[in-house]
Amino acid sequence: MFTQALVRAPSSNFAAGLTRENLGVPDHALALRQHAAYCDALRRCGLDVHELPPDPRHPDATFVEDTAVLLPRCAVLTRPGAPSRAGEVEAVGQALRAQGLVLQQIEAPGTLDGGDICEAGEHVFIGLSARTNAAGAEQLARCLAAAGYASSLVDVSDISSILHLKSGLSWLGDGRLLLIEALAGHPAFAGYDRIVVDSDEAYAANAVRVNAHVLVAAGYARTTARLREAGYAPLELDMSEFRKMDGGLSCLSLRY
Ligand code: GLY
Repeated sequence: MFTQALVRAPSSNFAAGLTRENLGVPDHALALRQHAAYCDALRRCGLDVHELPPDPRHPDATFVEDTAVLLPRCAVLTRPGAPSRAGEVEAVGQALRAQGLVLQQIEAPGTLDGGDICEAGEHVFIGLSARTNAAGAEQLARCLAAAGYASSLVDVSDISSILHLKSGLSWLGDGRLLLIEALAGHPAFAGYDRIVVDSDEAYAANAVRVNAHVLVAAGYARTTARLREAGYAPLELDMSEFRKMDGGLSCLSLRY
């Protein structure tokens, strides 16, 4: 069960952030409304939502998930793989320490984005990507092992459709994963129930199980129906403006 979430609303220069998408310039006012709805959904799931102020020095800072990995027995600040995002970590670290979390830290030459880390109960999948390198993955694996978690590496660097591992993979609990076709046959996921999203709904593979609900991007009717058929309670959220900046639902919060 999660009880807390840390979020950060998009800054006025959000559109200056990194993106590989070609979906147009995000509308800041609409992004703020979508972010507020996201925070409301987290509250509906039972979480206390802590908000950091927007940070115009770092246009990608709304994607707080990339700055830390928070598990019940292991909390680690990351070293983001994009140099423009390095400065995002400090404020998140201060906020989490103020709440009593004891944090480890990924060190150079390691790089690691939280979006590449998928917790699946006692096992953690670590994506190797353009943002997370082998040294970062190895450091995190050591921290996890010391805390009693197993982990495995999943190289997604040749799957051009996804920025991070979790762009195409979500843990739903109950031994079940939601994932894109390109990951469905990966041996790391062989022992799990798998819900594979249709290729034209690939963006919906980034969903977030939060206590009794699953946050899912709005507009992906077949994926939402499959989640409902599997017994989940989906909460659909409009993500259009964050998608333009290569962001998904999980990216917008740290849950703990
Ligand atoms: N815009 C999110 C990222 O590229 O890190």
